[in-house]
Amino acid sequence: MREILNAPFLVEMMRTTANMYRLGWDERNGGNISLLLDEAELGEYLDLDHVLREIPTGFQAPALAGRCFLVTGTGKYFKNVQYDPENSLGILRLKEDGATAQLLWGFSDGGTFTSELPTHLMSHAARLEVDPRQRVVLHCHPLNLVAMTFVHDLDQRAFTRTLWQMCTECIMFFPDGVGVLPWMVCGTNEIGRATAEKMRDTRLVVWAHHGIYGVGASLDEAFGLVETAEKGAQIYMKIAHLPWKQFITDGQLRQVAARFGLTPRAGYLD
Ligand code: 13P
Ligand code: ZN
Repeated sequence: MREILNAPFLVEMMRTTANMYRLGWDERNGGNISLLLDEAELGEYLDLDHVLREIPTGFQAPALAGRCFLVTGTGKYFKNVQYDPENSLGILRLKEDGATAQLLWGFSDGGTFTSELPTHLMSHAARLEVDPRQRVVLHCHPLNLVAMTFVHDLDQRAFTRTLWQMCTECIMFFPDGVGVLPWMVCGTNEIGRATAEKMRDTRLVVWAHHGIYGVGASLDEAFGLVETAEKGAQIYMKIAHLPWKQFITDGQLRQVAARFGLTPRAGYLD
């Protein structure tokens, strides 16, 4: 067996959580990440027949039966993951119906997976249906995106258009736009279902007055999506109260789309 603390997926998770903490996206235990693992790769580091304990998930995810995930633990601080990975993180395998998680590694103080596991697993399942490369669901509380949900219309077309107008990269990296959910109680199956529904056709979902979810084929991809949206929101929050002389027009957004072969979400450009 190889040393799991050197496994690329674990090293990248430690680096990502540390980065997110330093960016101010993850105060206290704010935020959570799940990473779909390759079983053959995981088998180089762990005895996959050795189950430490079983934990009910509280919902069914049959589409993910047998799949393994590296996930952050509930109540764990992102700032500490790099110093105490075996306590802050866990590796789970879902049993047949997805209603039970087998802990294969981690959560060494007896802890458990993030309270947002419903949203993570339901979003993985929704994305895998449309993108077989899907591996990461990442949630955090970036300051400007959350601030924007207090002063901007929560209509997701309007919200997306504003972000696209703030900097050229926004439409380049999320031409599918941003889904927006109204404020809801977090950590529930209900918010999980609502988020996953939006994930069918977008890779970013804002939770009003709470945070954002980003998904992708890698930690970098999901991180980069959130980073780009947060940059757009930061510009908006800097200028929202000032008189605007100009912004990126729909005609210019169409030019960007044509130049990079992108298809902006239907009906979002005038
Ligand atoms: P967890 O500590 O359970 O992951 O919750 C943090 C969070 O951001 C809830 O939305
Ligand atoms: Zn949160």
